[in-house]
Amino acid sequence: MSTNVIDKDRGTAVLPERIRRFPFPFRSDSYRYSTNVEPALKAVETEAGEWGSRLLDIDEHYLQELKERDGVLNRDPTRMQVLPHMRPAVWDAIATLLPAMAEEHPEAMSFHREGNVCRWGNTLQNLAIQFTIGDDDSLPMSPLRFLGSQIQDDIALLDHREDALWLDAGLVTFAADWSFGFDVGMKFLEVHGPVPRVHEEHIITRAHQFLLRLQPGEKYRRTNWTMTVDRRLDTSTETYPEWAQDRATVAEDPALPDRLHLRVEVQHLIRLPHSGAVLFLVRTHLLSLSDIAEVPAWRERLGRVLAELPEDMAEYKGISRYREAASAWLLAL
Ligand code: HEM
Repeated sequence: MSTNVIDKDRGTAVLPERIRRFPFPFRSDSYRYSTNVEPALKAVETEAGEWGSRLLDIDEHYLQELKERDGVLNRDPTRMQVLPHMRPAVWDAIATLLPAMAEEHPEAMSFHREGNVCRWGNTLQNLAIQFTIGDDDSLPMSPLRFLGSQIQDDIALLDHREDALWLDAGLVTFAADWSFGFDVGMKFLEVHGPVPRVHEEHIITRAHQFLLRLQPGEKYRRTNWTMTVDRRLDTSTETYPEWAQDRATVAEDPALPDRLHLRVEVQHLIRLPHSGAVLFLVRTHLLSLSDIAEVPAWRERLGRVLAELPEDMAEYKGISRYREAASAWLLAL
């Protein structure tokens, strides 16, 4: 028996990891924005398996995605920016995330710290280095680029001042249709300016109030979703001419179920203990409609969500030209 198919006799799913661990985000047949923030690290059971027990998720795409990030940064350095006052926040993020990753993945990673001197080992990259917290020259590259070379997540850092949060640093190579270079230096409320509905519904102002009150060390998370043609992680405004055309043609393509992916971001929100900055991590997961269809409950639910989604939300997410075709394929199976 193949391990990639549903074992119909027993009614249990023997599915590949990419499906079992996928953070399927829909809990009902319709989707609306909400202040969907919950404590991090709590495992969530789905119809196919489980996700969410870890802060830093490493999967089969680890090395490939980090290579892709490196390429994006080499081609376009604006994807990483650190306003000068954010240097301590970057070190705070390193001192918070590397030990967490070593604890969650002891078979591959190790972290030891004495005073400010740290040793980091990552067997997935054959890497063993020593560095000193606060000393940029002790790392082989700039501190934020180094952090971005160890974790699959995109990284944003928000400064807390004047009773607001300012997006003053980040390394974002896998943006879903936005531009970090355009948004850097903006306030949290300004960053969300283009999102429909959330302003009338006070979703963003409530999220802002929540984030302002986040206490040092507290970790929360939320999910967000859209769709992407092919396994393309870099769908930023900067590369729009490379990917936008596919959205117009995929509906007619017989390969639609393999080409179209549900794109789910697991986003973590952490108040860093020393700098007081808010760390925002965005881990992007892509799963094709063909894979989604392996789980009957997901197939039906995504089909219904896509059919029911109001047009302004579909338009904003950039899925309006193919969502009907996607929904029809899912519901016809
Ligand atoms: C704290 C760090 C956060 C940052 C830096 C951030 C950043 C962004 C950005 C850049 C966008 C795309 C906007 C555009 O189209 O230009 C976005 C979309 C959005 N954000 Fe946030 N966000 C954060 C947290 C949150 C939180 C806590 C919520 C809670 C409700 C939220 C809700 C949303 C929603 C609903 C969208 C629209 C997404 C879609 O339909 O695809 N964000 N965010």
